[in-house]
Order: sequence, then structure tokens, then C-alpha cells
Amino acid sequence: MDSILIKGNGPLNGQIAIAGAKNACLTLMPATLLTDAPLTLTNAPRLSDIRTMTQLLQSLGAEVASLQGGQVLALSSHDLTSHRADYDIVRKMRASILVLGPMLARAGEAIVSLPGGCAIGARPVDLHLKALEAMGAVLDLRDGYVHAKAPAGGLKGAVIDFPLVSVGATENALMAATLAKGTTVLKNAAREPEIVDLAQCLRRMGARIEGEGTETITIEGVTALGGATHAVVADRIELGTYMLVPAITGGEVECLGGRMDLVGAFAEKLDAAGVSVSETERGLKVSRKNGRIRAVDVVTEPFPGFPTDLQAQMMALLCTADGVSVLEERIFENRFMHAPELTRMGARIDVQGGTATVTGVEKLKGAPVMATDLRASVSLILAALAAEGETVVSRVYHLDRGYEKVEEKLSACGALIERIHG
Ligand code: UD1
Repeated sequence: MDSILIKGNGPLNGQIAIAGAKNACLTLMPATLLTDAPLTLTNAPRLSDIRTMTQLLQSLGAEVASLQGGQVLALSSHDLTSHRADYDIVRKMRASILVLGPMLARAGEAIVSLPGGCAIGARPVDLHLKALEAMGAVLDLRDGYVHAKAPAGGLKGAVIDFPLVSVGATENALMAATLAKGTTVLKNAAREPEIVDLAQCLRRMGARIEGEGTETITIEGVTALGGATHAVVADRIELGTYMLVPAITGGEVECLGGRMDLVGAFAEKLDAAGVSVSETERGLKVSRKNGRIRAVDVVTEPFPGFPTDLQAQMMALLCTADGVSVLEERIFENRFMHAPELTRMGARIDVQGGTATVTGVEKLKGAPVMATDLRASVSLILAALAAEGETVVSRVYHLDRGYEKVEEKLSACGALIERIHG
């Protein structure tokens, strides 16, 4: 298993190019299942999660060609040969459940293993299933699999009022509704930029969708969708992560391709913590204002609130702040696994249920630490960049699921970071 060695060496300066969004790409790829025409995705990130989704789609009979070093994905589901998403692939990644809606809508049948993914809480898929049932699907949970069948004549439009905001359930319902008969209204829908990106791509394919980016999305079903070429939106979580590099080490970093509308609530917190963020022609420029980071309180919420996927990284920053910060995690119940690892580096963190109280220290200290999930792993890297001495982060396969070329991007800004293959 690979690990990453980092030697904290002061302020980092430079430019970092932000890749296409992993989470957008993972929902755009299954959209291929809705049509027999080709779908081309540009600006795709090069990540192991994308390779997992590739394998999953291929196991269903889709063709997926990775072009231009993986930045372009050419997908075609002309001939689907299977309706079964197997446990062996699905267990690697929770986003695999996103094949359920489109496969059911197009083929009338889908068998999908219940998912695995990051161990950050129970993460059920009941909302996905209820939405599809509302469209007339008959579901049966057997042997760890969801067996889903559309009624004769296909899925039907429905009004679906989600009891809580779910990104994945909104995506599954949105994709399924494009081919359902009649009108579907999604209420209390997720408003994340990845949903907007998916809706834009589906519209290019011929879907009739209105209201994405708001709480209510309306979809008029069509009989068939066609092909499209679509550029994946920038990854707001990768963007936020790299915005924290100059915040935690000092220096100035320009995040190329970054957009303020993708990270509004996060940028506001950075500002309150004493970090300046400004728009440039090519992206966002970030630097620490004078003096030490100030403590701020953070509550994670669905978009446009502060993203849960940046909570661990923000915690790393606040470990070095002047004062006491309170972080409240409201999306996932078990998402403070980075706290004990940060504590090994000298941080002072008290976790009580969904709340972490962080008392800032002057300086973190390098230590051997272990990545426990995707976002936790990069929070340890951020902490290590600002720490005194050497840190070795082990189990970095989590990191490779969601961040491309981390070592290259950070060394280009002057970081002392290297991968140890093992
Ligand atoms: C997506 C993102 C993930 C991010 C999360 C929240 C992808 C591939 N992953 O995950 O990185 O952290 O949004 O922004 O896009 N829930 C249920 N029942 C369901 C579905 C969800 O109770 O059927 C709960 C979850 O346990 C969680 C909350 O709803 O507490 C939000 O989860 P959801 O928005 O669905 O997250 P994902 O789509 O899995």
C-alpha cells in the first residue's frame, strides 16, 4: 500500500489547475445508460473512482473509451448485455447506485447490489428506492441486491417530495424521470452544482428539465434521448481543498478554473478566518491576510451551505487557528475519523457526537498518520504541509479515489511531498 511523505517547509506559492468534478462525472457517466447514442464527456478527472464506474458500466455492456490520457470519456450503451450491477464492483464505491435509475428507465429492469464506499456513516439508499417506487417501479430487496422492475409500459411521472435533501437520490430520480411517461416533480431536491451539471447534460441529450439548482425540479418525460458532448464542471471540493493550501501554510495560490459560485459558503468562512479570496481571469487567488488564522464555527449543510466534503480539510486549518472553533457535522454521523489522526499531530480536538470543538495550537507536529476516508486523507496532507517535521500518511488509496496528481500539484507550489510505493 502506498503512503505519502511530507516535510512541512513554510509558505507555498503557485498555481494549481482544478480538475473536473469527480462527483459530477460519476453521475454523468451512468447517463449513458439512458440512450443508445454516444455520450462524450470532456474535462473528466483521472481517478480510481472513475475507473471503477468505467468497469461497472462495461460489466453492463456499455463501451467506455478513455481518450486523451483519461480527460475525455467516450461512452456508448448501444447494446446493454446485462442488467446486474455486481457486488464485487459496487462495494468499492457508493456512487454505483447511480446506475439503478437510468438502467431501470431504459431497460425496464435492474438488479443492483447495495453499495459500500467511504465508511462515514450508515448512508442508506431508501430515498433512491422510494423515488423509483413512486414512479411505479416494483422493488424487491434480496441477497444484498435491489431487484427493480418498471411496470409494463415503463416508469410513470410522479410528484416526489424528498423528506431530506439527498444528492444521489435526486440524481437517480432525475435520470429515471427523463424517460418516464408524463411529468415528474422533484421537491426538496438537492441544489448542488453537480445536479445542475447533470441536468444540463441531460438537456443536451434531449431531456426536458426545468428548475435545476432550485428546490423544485420538473421533468417532462420523453420517449428517447440522443447523444451529446458535455464538459464536466470544475470540482468544487478539489478547489476548496487547494484553497486551503495558502490558508494553512501562508503564501499565495491561484486555483485555475476555480469559480466563486461553486464555493460561496466556504469562501465566506475563509474570509472570516482571515484568508483573502479574489476572482482572477483564470480562477481564484487565495492568500492569508496578516497574522494567524482566526477561529470560526462551521455547520455542514446541503448546497449552498458549507459542504460536508470540506469539513475535514477545514478542521485541519482550524487546528492552527487562534481560538476555539466549533464544527458541527449535520450530513453524516460518523465523519470525524480524521480528528484522532490530527490529534496525533498535536491538534486539540474534542469530539462529542456530531460536534467537534477545536482549540487552535501554534504549530502542528509531523507524525505517522493513517487516512481513513477520502476527505480525511487530504486533511492530513494539509495539516502535514503546515506541520513541523515529517509526516507519513498511510493508506492513501482513499486519496487516489478523489484527487488526481496531488503530489505533482503540491510540489509545483514548493511542497516537499513524495509518494512511497509499497
Ligand atoms: C454525495 C457525494 C458525497 C457528499 C454527499 C453530501 C457523490 C458521488 N457523493 O453523496 O461526496 O458527501 O453527496 O454532499 O456525489 N440519505 C438517506 N437515504 C438515502 C440517501 C441519503 O438517509 O437514500 C442520507 C445520507 O445518509 C446522508 C444524507 O442523506 O445523511 C445526504 O446524503 P446524500 O446527499 O445522498 O449523499 P450521496 O449522494 O451519497
